Amino acid sequence: MHDGLESGRRKLEWARRHMPILEELSGEYRRRHPLEGLTIGLATHVEAKTGILVETLVKAGARVILAASDPMSTQDDVNAALSAQKHIISYAERGLSRDEYEAALLKVLDQAPDLIIDDAAELATRLHAKRPGLLRKVAGSAEQTTTGVYRLKAMEAKGALKIPAYAVNDTPMKRYFDNVHGTGESSLANIAIGTNLLLAGKNVVIVGYGYCGRGLAMKAKGWGAQVIVTEVDPRKALQAIMDGFHVMRLDSAARIGDFFITATGNINVISKRHMARMKDGAVLANAGHFDVEISLADLRETATSWNDVREGITEYILQRGKRLYLLAAGRLVNLTSPAAMGHPIEVMDQTFGVQLASAVHLYENRDKLEPRVYQVPDEVDMMVARIKLRTLNVEIDDLTVEQRRYLKTWVFD
Ligand code: NAI
Repeated sequence: MHDGLESGRRKLEWARRHMPILEELSGEYRRRHPLEGLTIGLATHVEAKTGILVETLVKAGARVILAASDPMSTQDDVNAALSAQKHIISYAERGLSRDEYEAALLKVLDQAPDLIIDDAAELATRLHAKRPGLLRKVAGSAEQTTTGVYRLKAMEAKGALKIPAYAVNDTPMKRYFDNVHGTGESSLANIAIGTNLLLAGKNVVIVGYGYCGRGLAMKAKGWGAQVIVTEVDPRKALQAIMDGFHVMRLDSAARIGDFFITATGNINVISKRHMARMKDGAVLANAGHFDVEISLADLRETATSWNDVREGITEYILQRGKRLYLLAAGRLVNLTSPAAMGHPIEVMDQTFGVQLASAVHLYENRDKLEPRVYQVPDEVDMMVARIKLRTLNVEIDDLTVEQRRYLKTWVFD
């Protein structure tokens, strides 16, 4: 048997054992086949946890066509193990060129999907821009990440969105766990493993204090780092201060940071003027969706030379011999570093539980939906939360009838 195939199968098996939510949903979907006969177009980081999502979609009756949502995040062994299964076609591969990456996403669309499960709206945006003729067949899109929801809302605001989309990212079951704990733990783990450097006692600058940034800051503090936060939103800055972090302008943080981690979903947040102020040996990593947060153009312009000093670490030598180290070429550090495995399995079990249940809900309610961005109905998110608590053997209290009535009362005797 092909070595990659076997190791891919073992990775899938390990993930499967730790994904009880998908296990429970797949039991239900195997019985009632809610996605029977559908073609699902899926853009995702192709690795073991997404592999279990794909398998669960197939158990629900679908044929799944997938492409990577980052050119560097595919695990080829897992991809081989998935491609060997019936009803799964994959155009993913690690190390695709920009053109190949683009072509793979379009190939997914060319299979005329009935439903899209998306990451950063990579399929939804191309569907509208490059394959508008296929729009009518698509019931909608379930979007997994912050950047994708931003893009879909931008399309909606311009009247350009032609399909209903569920903002899966915005559910409590996704955001409070995946963005916070998943990004926090997996990014720090990859920075530590990739550099083999100590975080304790170092100045770690977190750029952006949204859900991901908050998780990164919390975890870095737990590792003993001195955490500095930079923000543009005054409320987020205040939140960071009251959570116990130093807040300052990036211009000031640039001078003292040992590690810089971006998590803004924004462009060029670390630019030339910050690089010019940084200390010799500063390490730069990105946890936001695209490789645009640390300006690569500015790094190249500022540097006199650069080379890969270790797998996943590029050394940029600036004037007077100052060195800056960029991890994972500025791509998602937790998904594209050499040893990256993405978020912890249990977190993705929750995310994919909501993603899957949302996709099914969207499809089953397609006739009632308009071309807009919808929040996922709370009952879908609650259902996944209840399954998770059950798998943890944790029981919680119920509201009494009296308490329910009290919470709805506004006239008191
Ligand atoms: P969010 O919207 O909650 O937070 C982003 C924060 O960045 C906001 O508070 C905003 O004010 C701040 N910000 C924007 N521009 C800034 C600038 N120039 N300087 C400083 N702060 C700035 O978004 P969330 O959920 O934290 O996601 C952030 C990014 O991470 C997105 O691209 C998202 O898709 C991605 N993401 C990555 C994951 C991973 O596995 N690495 C997992 C989940 C999300």
